[in-house]
Amino acid sequence: MRRDWDERARKNAFHYIASWRKEWDLDSFLASGEEDVSRLVLPALARCVLPTTGQRMLELGCGAGRMTHSFARRFEHVYAFDLSREMLARARQIHSERKNILWLLSNGADLSCVASGSMDFVFSYLVLQHLPEETLAFQYIREMLRVLRPGGAILFQFNGGFAPTMNWRGRLAWGIVDALWSANLRALSRAAASALGLDPSAAGKSWRGAAIAAPRIAELLRAAGGEVREMTGEDTPLAWCCGVKAAGKA
Ligand SMILES: C[S@@+](CC[C@H](N)C(=O)[O-])C[C@H]1O[C@@H](n2cnc3c(N)ncnc32)[C@H](O)[C@@H]1O
Repeated sequence: MRRDWDERARKNAFHYIASWRKEWDLDSFLASGEEDVSRLVLPALARCVLPTTGQRMLELGCGAGRMTHSFARRFEHVYAFDLSREMLARARQIHSERKNILWLLSNGADLSCVASGSMDFVFSYLVLQHLPEETLAFQYIREMLRVLRPGGAILFQFNGGFAPTMNWRGRLAWGIVDALWSANLRALSRAAASALGLDPSAAGKSWRGAAIAAPRIAELLRAAGGEVREMTGEDTPLAWCCGVKAAGKA
């Protein structure tokens, strides 16, 4: 996963972070992060009657800090994790003035370097949807709850859509690319992707991650000491879960 994301960062970091545009300039890229916080984060927390400011928050998969700078205006300290050294290098450079953001290299599977019960808010957007295995996403969600303080808020997006988003030609093309990748023929897999008109940087399953059924997320949250306050967009690739860690849970 790290190799793939480092490569994407080198190729066109802003596009692979926010892929709805091919070319971004820095100002519009950062403005899109602020807009997403205002459009997606603040209303969800307000609907769930959860605070939008606090002492400490954690963002999982911060990329180049598109949204992180906006969080840094609302929280005293932001712990921004990403798997990719290249993404973090860009984030550090862009946001060198922001002294309240700690940019941290993630190990890709857990938050073991963060103390339990230490965060007021944990957040993740456009990250869990890329994880190739459901179990990895589950492990991260458990970890997000572990580091949350009792009464703290959790908000994350995941891919809840199981309906095929491609026609049979697309599925066949990706099937060929994936089969080559699984056989460890990575260069060939990328070449096949190019030849089939697909993005070679998206070869390997770290781009098209596993979908997760919303009821399984709710069950997991409850088992890990959380409560779901709101689930939106279930059955779609842009599903959101907003919850809280139950008071009295360690
Ligand atoms: C599509 S970008 C989204 C970045 C950011 N959340 C945003 O909306 O601007 C996905 C980010 O997740 C990171 N990522 C992918 N897999 C990860 C993992 N297992 N652990 C932590 N970060 C991961 C990638 O390096 C990349 O920066």
